[in-house]
Amino acid sequence: MTDISWNAVRAVAEPDLRTIFESDPDRLDRLAFKVGSLRFDWSKTHMTPALMAAFADLAQASDFTARRDALFSGASVNVTEDRAAEHSAERGEGAPDSVARAKALHNRMRALIDAIEAGALGPIRHIVHVGIGGSALGPDLLIDALGRDAGRYDVAIVSNVDGCALEEAIRDFDPQATLLAIASKTFTTTETMLNARSAINWMVEGGVDDPYGRVVALTAAPDKAVEWGVDETRILPFSETVGGRYSLWSSIGFPAALGLGWDAFESLLEGAAEMDRHFRLAPVEKNAPLIAAFVDRYYAGVKGCQTRALFAYDERLRLLPSYLQQLEMESNGKSVKLDGSPVDGPTAPITWGGVGTDAQHAVFQLLHQGTHLVPVEFVASIEPGDLLDPAHHRALLTNCFAQGAALMRGRENPADPARAYPGGRPSTTILMDDVGPHALGALIAFYEHRTFANAVLMGINPFDQFGVELGKEIARSIEKDGPSGFDPSTSALIDLAMNDE
Ligand code: F6P
Repeated sequence: MTDISWNAVRAVAEPDLRTIFESDPDRLDRLAFKVGSLRFDWSKTHMTPALMAAFADLAQASDFTARRDALFSGASVNVTEDRAAEHSAERGEGAPDSVARAKALHNRMRALIDAIEAGALGPIRHIVHVGIGGSALGPDLLIDALGRDAGRYDVAIVSNVDGCALEEAIRDFDPQATLLAIASKTFTTTETMLNARSAINWMVEGGVDDPYGRVVALTAAPDKAVEWGVDETRILPFSETVGGRYSLWSSIGFPAALGLGWDAFESLLEGAAEMDRHFRLAPVEKNAPLIAAFVDRYYAGVKGCQTRALFAYDERLRLLPSYLQQLEMESNGKSVKLDGSPVDGPTAPITWGGVGTDAQHAVFQLLHQGTHLVPVEFVASIEPGDLLDPAHHRALLTNCFAQGAALMRGRENPADPARAYPGGRPSTTILMDDVGPHALGALIAFYEHRTFANAVLMGINPFDQFGVELGKEIARSIEKDGPSGFDPSTSALIDLAMNDE
């Protein structure tokens, strides 16, 4: 049935983007609309009414409604690990029991934050948060985007096992005034545990009498945190059913809740909940995450685009591309369907991007004149983040909108082909009212649901990540057994760089 629907999608005639508004004058009304504080605009993509209808059929053939209901109901949608995916319960949208449990855990986090603010752990000015992947990228994005003027604590997010990362983070911190947050769902991740150990050593060397008394654990494995030496009162658990890359709403968001304040954290959750409700209730033709997934599938599955690019025309969102790389590529970079059979076509494109206007002077040449077709997404904010001359923000937005127009319009130049632009290149724009916690919560939840909707259309499970395991296993075996048993290239590298004798 999905094969037939895919054939129908592929059979839709491709319009010419350069003249698409002439042939389809209502497209802006249909394809640009607001959800809360976010305005989405897909009118500069190839999405025609015929394509939308074909994708709506594909969604139906893929059991989209049932799979979405299962997601929100707390059913075991992560079939390979036999568990639910309950990130939306963290923001109050999900099975009542799960929502109540998440609320209780948030209350626990809030109580600890209040105690820290009241000085229960001493005079804290700095927070070192160690974690990696989903246990770091979310908090990093939040603090970087929203913390510019918070000024409450200096927060350093340390992820890389390279000691340079921790060294740099603690260089200007006073160990006597530092709180260590260890963020790990499993509480076993090598990088995080090593960074945590070294941070404790740094505190000891800095004369802290009871360094473990300044440790907070953010984890779904509280027993492991206790074994490691964290006092039970400073363990902030979250549910096993919250996936790592979907976890910033849980206690993994602790440094953001502490650093930005509880009100900001709540507002983030409310913004995400608003998007949850939209995704659950909006009809197909006005459902933002679903339309975005249709567009993604069209370019990856029909047009063969191997990448998609995201440019944040806002310095505050400079970490958004890295955040989305994990969300989209770890979720949907798969080769088999839910039943274990091979997927029919390409899965997640490679997500990449940067910030505007910097990227215009680096990679946009390829986007405008190169031979790759890259669907581009622009994210910008109406409200500026700076207090300088308004000319800055005006120039930022002008450039953002000019790039989308240029990609679509192109320019012929028969006299000089080197100066010609093919045009007809698609882009999407997401315009936020502002980069505040509410809008950012909604934006991140939009991307989560879009990723899920893509997975449904492909028939895959977006909630496991077995692809990261093999490299970890081999690293462990190199640690244990050295160079023996590997291919000659790997053995020689180990011998050359790691042989102490
Ligand atoms: O290696 C991938 C991964 O499992 C991610 O999915 C996860 O976000 C990250 O590692 C960190 O895992 P943990 O929170 O258990 O330390």
